[in-house]
Amino acid sequence: MNVRENGGEKSYGRGASAASSRADRSLHFSHNSCFRVLFEPSSRIRRMDELVEQAREIQDRAHVPYSEYPVGAALRTADGTIYVGCNIENANFSNSLHAEEVAFAEAIKSGHREFDRLAVSSARKDGVTPCGMCRQTLSEFCDDDLVVVCDHGDDVREYTLGELLPDTITEEMLD
Ligand code: THU
Ligand code: ZN
Repeated sequence: MNVRENGGEKSYGRGASAASSRADRSLHFSHNSCFRVLFEPSSRIRRMDELVEQAREIQDRAHVPYSEYPVGAALRTADGTIYVGCNIENANFSNSLHAEEVAFAEAIKSGHREFDRLAVSSARKDGVTPCGMCRQTLSEFCDDDLVVVCDHGDDVREYTLGELLPDTITEEMLD
């Protein structure tokens, strides 16, 4: 595994740990969390989420020597089965797999086609959302009402897929 523990700080491959900038970031994000709790609709913000916990745990399996940015995803199927994935990078950068892709691949090859919830988390707990490519991958299998939960550390924020990717190309348009 490509994770080194270093006095409580994790390091993911190259370079020294950036403890001070991480401390700066956590100050910044706790301020953001307060802002969101005060000014955004409460239904969109929750304290914690079981699926986010699983997305956090699988980050330890990430292979991220280039970005040093572990991401985990946990995908819940309509029957309640949960599949997890982490990012797997490659020296040829474009071959890298995203956490969401890995979770979806596992679920699809196991025969699932219906999903109701996806959690995404980075080790920085910075509220990362699925990238544009992953949003399109989600839209292949999920309706606009799929709930996507993103990890802000002290709390989580929920989106629907329709919010993250409105007006995308669909199967029906190719008929
Ligand atoms: N990453 C994901 O795994 N999912 C996303 O949708 C956002 C980006 C990964 C890809 C790369 O390994 C690292 O995060 C930095 O972009
Ligand atoms: Zn992605």
